[in-house]
Amino acid sequence: MAKKEIYLDHAATTYVRQEVLDAMLPCMTDIYGNPSSLHSFGQRARKALEAARASVAASLHARPEEIFFTSGGTESDNWALRGVAAAQGSKGRHIITSKIEHPAVLNTAKDLEKAGFRVTYLDVDADGVVNVDQLKEALTPDTILVSIMAANNEIGTIQPIEELGRIVKAGSKAAFHVDAVQAVGAIEVNLEKWKDVDLLSLSGHKFYGPKGVGVLFIRKGTRIGPMITGGSQERKKRAGTENVPGSVGFAKALELAVAEMPEESRRLAELRDYLIDRVLTEIKGSRLNGHRTKRLPGNANFSFDYIEGEGLLMYMSMRGVAASTGSACSSASLEPSHVLLAIGLKHETAHGSFRATLGKTTTKEDIDYTVEALKDVVNMLREMSPLYDEMKGAERQCTVKK
Ligand SMILES: Cc1ncc(COP(=O)(O)O)c(C=O)c1O
Repeated sequence: MAKKEIYLDHAATTYVRQEVLDAMLPCMTDIYGNPSSLHSFGQRARKALEAARASVAASLHARPEEIFFTSGGTESDNWALRGVAAAQGSKGRHIITSKIEHPAVLNTAKDLEKAGFRVTYLDVDADGVVNVDQLKEALTPDTILVSIMAANNEIGTIQPIEELGRIVKAGSKAAFHVDAVQAVGAIEVNLEKWKDVDLLSLSGHKFYGPKGVGVLFIRKGTRIGPMITGGSQERKKRAGTENVPGSVGFAKALELAVAEMPEESRRLAELRDYLIDRVLTEIKGSRLNGHRTKRLPGNANFSFDYIEGEGLLMYMSMRGVAASTGSACSSASLEPSHVLLAIGLKHETAHGSFRATLGKTTTKEDIDYTVEALKDVVNMLREMSPLYDEMKGAERQCTVKK
């Protein structure tokens, strides 16, 4: 088969689509004023920024004054946790999150522990779904924040956000933060339906928008301190001259992602299921990580017995397939995935996952090519693996004994 180049790492990042670039370009050349300036240059930039805010609000079924532009998902997550801790720390010292959150939440929670907050890390089941009973039990009058992601970046499992929100509000006065960085554009994110969600993090580069721009939705009435102090931008909550081109690009990308979501998610889910079925039936000793159906339409995450993830990725990359072992941030490290450990995989298996995340450019031919390449590479790596040799030896002995 001729070598191709196939990008199956859309959960790590996406390209900027042309319509988004077209919307952004004038904000770098003609509309370059500072939105805080009172002259016409500034006012044109202010108008573009506020139109972007209104558009984001409409896409999410929120109000413009609840939309705050940030530098991305990491900042939004940090702000949600640290901002609530700062504003409500005198009211309570307990925070709840889950064991499979993105490091932007987990490491921030760990930092808050050092500052004297108590953090409960909820377990997940073997599919990666948060334990609802444990959440009910964990809520106390001291709980000020619950932070649970809408969909996991590694294994794609989708959480029952409406149900979790109801439980949080029935059992406490805590604010409910949702990291929806992977969810938006893939599943419906509607803040009228998710009425118990007080804070929501988004990141532009996950849905064909620019990198380095995100949003924190802050529902009216939520008590949260600023994270970046300085000038009075973003209603004195997030200082710094606004990223007008980024915000305009974010809004355009979100508008398109939300409009195209029903059709595109159906298409991706079909391709995903085709990939999953072929891998599970054609590659012996493979398993799917994450929920079989309650998963992001573009996400497939596999483990292969006797295979080490980094080697697999490298050889797949040599065959032209760009995939990942987990989150982009941890795939360069040799630490096992905290998500795979949380769903009960053994240490050695948690090292060896293969995440393929599909997107706009993905075709059925890409999937066919990927499966054939995977079959070859898995076979080759197993032939090289001493563990696999031992296993085959043991199998042979069993056959002889019989
Ligand atoms: C679930 C989740 N949260 C947060 C982030 C961080 O977003 P950003 O790259 O915009 O900082 C990511 C990025 O991979 C993510 O997948």
